Amino acid sequence: MGFEHSRAPLFESLRTFVERDQAPFYSPGHKGGRTIDPWLRENIAAVDLNNLPDTDTLHCPEGPILEAERLIADAWGVPQSFLMVQGSTGGNIAVALTALRPDEPVLVARNAHKSVLAGLVQVGARPVWLEPRWDAEFGVAHGLDAAVVARAFETTGATALWALHPTYYGTTGDLAALADLCRRYGARLLLDGAHSPHFAFHPDLPTPGEQSGAAATVHSVHKILSGLSQAAVLHVDTAPARRGIGTAVPATNPDDQPAFCDHGVGRPGTAADGARRTCLARRHADQGA
Ligand SMILES: Cc1ncc(COP(=O)(O)O)c(C=O)c1O
Repeated sequence: MGFEHSRAPLFESLRTFVERDQAPFYSPGHKGGRTIDPWLRENIAAVDLNNLPDTDTLHCPEGPILEAERLIADAWGVPQSFLMVQGSTGGNIAVALTALRPDEPVLVARNAHKSVLAGLVQVGARPVWLEPRWDAEFGVAHGLDAAVVARAFETTGATALWALHPTYYGTTGDLAALADLCRRYGARLLLDGAHSPHFAFHPDLPTPGEQSGAAATVHSVHKILSGLSQAAVLHVDTAPARRGIGTAVPATNPDDQPAFCDHGVGRPGTAADGARRTCLARRHADQGA
């Protein structure tokens, strides 16, 4: 059978998909560009650039990327943030590579995302698997119970805890209790907060992981907020004992996406307007319920 090289199957399927009348309840959070700045939407191809002197570089940011990262850190109320262009996947791997050492024992929730597992494999750390609380009624796993974590610290000598905050189903464990345990056992708290970039922007939402004493928290900005796909952030605590996390961030070479991330994150989306948007979303959800 001959191949029809005039066809572009991926392009064709994308076009068919986006031209269909629909209400997108899936990520990315910008919902087909509805919450992206109109100029950026119009010029999306023009700003698809490599790292040029004017556009700064993720590997050693000195200009607009650095400025964006400082705005982001301020908006989330953390000492330091890094823009990530390969999703929370890249963030979790960066955390593993910079926070952990080969053979280091780490408490890890059994429902951890595969990017956490990939990071653990790459650095060669030793996971101590912890069973999350099982919800028999709904058939889903929730967060870790503090008693399970305390027992594991007592018996394994683990030096870090890696937890999901929230789970895939949007539930959270007792983060304050987990953070207390980490402090008591001198361990670092690492958080996969892929689904919680918005927690910091409304007081009715659960405790933001990045403000709970975590040494590192990763957020998928593209899932919930207005970043384009793969836009994510990594927040780190810069206390001396924790310094170094995230500074060996793996990233692609054409790292133009930070511009998109900056747009979706630091500016109109959250810092200035997050609480109002969250209230609006909750009102819509309540009306729909
Ligand atoms: C809990 C959790 N962590 C990490 C990831 C990876 O996120 P990303 O798609 O931003 O790489 C996901 C993706 O769904 C996830 O659900």
